[in-house]
Amino acid sequence: MKKIVCENYSELCIAAADLFEAQLAKKPTSVFGLATGSTPIGLYEELSKRVNDGKMDFSNAKAFNLDEYYPINPTHPQSYKYFMDENLFNKVNFASTNIPNGETTNPSAECAEYDSAIKTAGGIDLQLLGIGVNGHIGFNEPDTTYSINTNLTKLTESTLEANSRFFDDPNEQPRTALTMGFGSIFAAKHILLLISGGNKAEVARKLFEGKIHTDVPASFLLLHPNVTLIIDKDANEN
Ligand code: GLP
Repeated sequence: MKKIVCENYSELCIAAADLFEAQLAKKPTSVFGLATGSTPIGLYEELSKRVNDGKMDFSNAKAFNLDEYYPINPTHPQSYKYFMDENLFNKVNFASTNIPNGETTNPSAECAEYDSAIKTAGGIDLQLLGIGVNGHIGFNEPDTTYSINTNLTKLTESTLEANSRFFDDPNEQPRTALTMGFGSIFAAKHILLLISGGNKAEVARKLFEGKIHTDVPASFLLLHPNVTLIIDKDANEN
């Protein structure tokens, strides 16, 4: 895992955008794996700015998002579809964008189709990841077993609590989600993991131990041959 430490969140976003720009310059038809959460928001702002300034052009690139709440209507302001439209897709000209369908009546068929669409697109070139305070990536929650393929998963109390700040009405917060599995994530040629903020320092420390913690899903990333971690000083506190 290659580690880049940034002074603050703004620098982290610039460094991450530089990697996106380099990937796009190398391969304009790149397939990007994208993430939600507050961490990538500044990166998406920076990418939108660079597209607006004519420095980047995603018109031949494709996007696949990691996950979506289930069930959720895509027009719900807390759906990841809504989040991506607001923060990136309405501003950046991808050839195609894909997010698991939070309204599907057949989750297992939806998940299988999602994995096969990623394969048909040629696999993910650059996969962006954030991290949950409990070490989850996408919605792969700490567990004793982990799914390889995209799957319907139950959210842990810790994740429900961390994400409850976004739902005015707790009854509207879905308790399950569709998420890419470890196989789908690990098939990416390059993984970019972003960690920002003091509340992530503890989970970051676990990664730096250089051990697989079976209850910290992100620690499996230590086994991937091409991961770049960009972390800000607050999260890098030891
Ligand atoms: C959600 C997403 C993850 C994301 C995590 C962290 O649960 N499913 O993909 O990494 O939140 O979010 P934040 O960046 O807001 O801490």
